[in-house]
This record gives sequence, C-alpha cells and structure tokens, in this order.
Amino acid sequence: SNMVFESHKNLSQYLNNHRDTNKSIGFVPTMGALHQGHLALMKKALEDNDFLVVSIFVNPTQFNNPEDLKKYPRLLEADLKLMESQLDSSNFITYAPAVEDVYGKIAVSKSYHFDGLEDVMEGSQRPGHFDGVGTILQFLFEVVQPDRAYFGEKDFQQLQIIKKLKEKLQLPIEIIGYPIHREESGLAMSSRNARLSPEGFIKAAQIYQVLKEAPGYFSKHSIKETIAFVSKKISQLSGFELEYFTIADEKTLSPATIKDSSKNYRAFIVVHLEGVRLIDNIPLN
Ligand code: PAJ
Repeated sequence: SNMVFESHKNLSQYLNNHRDTNKSIGFVPTMGALHQGHLALMKKALEDNDFLVVSIFVNPTQFNNPEDLKKYPRLLEADLKLMESQLDSSNFITYAPAVEDVYGKIAVSKSYHFDGLEDVMEGSQRPGHFDGVGTILQFLFEVVQPDRAYFGEKDFQQLQIIKKLKEKLQLPIEIIGYPIHREESGLAMSSRNARLSPEGFIKAAQIYQVLKEAPGYFSKHSIKETIAFVSKKISQLSGFELEYFTIADEKTLSPATIKDSSKNYRAFIVVHLEGVRLIDNIPLN
C-alpha cells in the first residue's frame, strides 16, 4: 500500500536504495486538500515516469497571511484515501512531514532573485510568498531528486518561477506545466474552494464565465480595452471583490501595454468571494 514518510531522511534513504538509472521518478508537490486537479497532475506523472513521489505539506513560509495559513484545510487521511483509490499504489509514495522535519525549530525562507518574475502579481500582492515557494521547492528537489516535476498552470506565475529556480540552481529536473483542471461549471479547482458556502461555490463559476470572454474580445481590441472590459464585467457581479486583473507577457509576466504579435499573452485574475481568495488565468492568443 501507499508508504507515507514523515522524515525527509527516511524518504531520501528509501529513494536512494531504490534509485535505478533505468527508472524515472516523477514528483508532484502539493499542500494537500487534494482534488481532481492534483490527481490529474499525479496521473500525468505516472504516465510519464516509472515511479511517483507526492509531497503533502502546508508550507508556512509561503503564507504572507497568518489567518490564511491557519485556515488552510488539512485533510491528510482523506488525501491518502483519495490517492489510494485513484492511483496504482505500487507506484507511488508520499512525503507528509511536520514543519520541524523541513525547517527545524524556526521556519524561515531563503531569498531569491527570479529576474523580476517575483515582483509582479502574486509577488507584489503577497510579500515573501515566492521566497517561501523557492525555499520549499529547493528543499524538496534536493530530497527527492526527481527526473520530472509537475506544476499546474493554475498557479502560472509559480510555474514560471520554478522554471527559473531550476535554471538558477542548474537542477537536472524537467519542469512540466499542466493545464488548469476545472469544475463542470468552469470554476478552477482549488483547495480553497472547500471554504466557500454551497451558494458561493455556484457563484464562483462566474469568474471563469467572464474570463473566457477575454480571448475573443482581445483578438479585436487593445490590451487596455480588454482590461477595462473584464474589470467592468467583474465589478457588475455582486459579492465579488476584484483584487487584480492583469494582462501579461507569458515569458516575463510583466504587465503588457501594447500588443506585440510575436508574444503570447495571458490574463490573470484574483478575486475575493466570501472571504476566500480565488485565482484564475487564461491564455489570450
Ligand atoms: P497546491 O496549491 O496544493 O498545488 C499543488 C499543485 O497543484 C500546484 O502545481 C498547482 O498549480 C496544482 N494545481 C492546483 N489546482 C489545480 C488545478 N485546478 N488544475 C491544475 N493544477 C492545479 O501550489 C502549491 O500547492 C504550493 O505552492 C507548492 C508548489 C506545493 C509549494 O508549497
């Protein structure tokens, strides 16, 4: 059955004993409260690799808001059951440590430069967030030493930052992005959705209903007009508070102003509903 490691020393010993140059290891880091978006990453990793390592760890250093950290759902038993029911348990192991196993007595971040990727959007709204993400991934990559690691495009900025981390640390790991997994309503799956009321859960689908109009509108209008169009539509919805809506170049993530046909653009949104911070994005061209 699914082996669960609480100690990175035991995990790394196990992996080193079983490491085989002919067999590849896929890695899916998560913070738990698993949903089908996480499961899709794991299934993809098992398709591409001989073996899967999943980590489940609510990483304190990436939370800029203590209340958010406290309220983050922790559902380890249910998570393990879900994985066991949906994955072939002979092919994966789980690392689910306590904070001390990762950080010792005091959890602090290293600091990183990600060539400006860390200065915009989630980086500017959530001070220290990407230092926390960099710190935990540098640690996990060192322990697991996977061939491939999988990340969702739902956190598109995080994905780009991890590619940059790989480049800066010259890690021999392939970083693979995976499209956003959505509810039937279109709502991007998220562990935070569990904090919405049943009504809020239905209402939250309106974010994607608006967002998915953006590519068509963008094809015939300027960046500025598209931003105004989407922002207005969101402001007309009751109950939502818009934190930001930005259009950025996918490579640099810097806010775009004038269209350049050689670039790929993506629209990024963060809204609050019932006190829950919801994030989504969509490619525009
Ligand atoms: P978490 O939010 O649990 O997400 C784990 C992985 O699942 C991330 O790569 C995220 O982008 C992906 N994911 C979440 N919802 C998704 C969806 N609806 N569709 C596709 N992929 C989705 O992101 C983190 O944890 C943490 O920052 C972590 C990378 C584990 C570092 O602590």
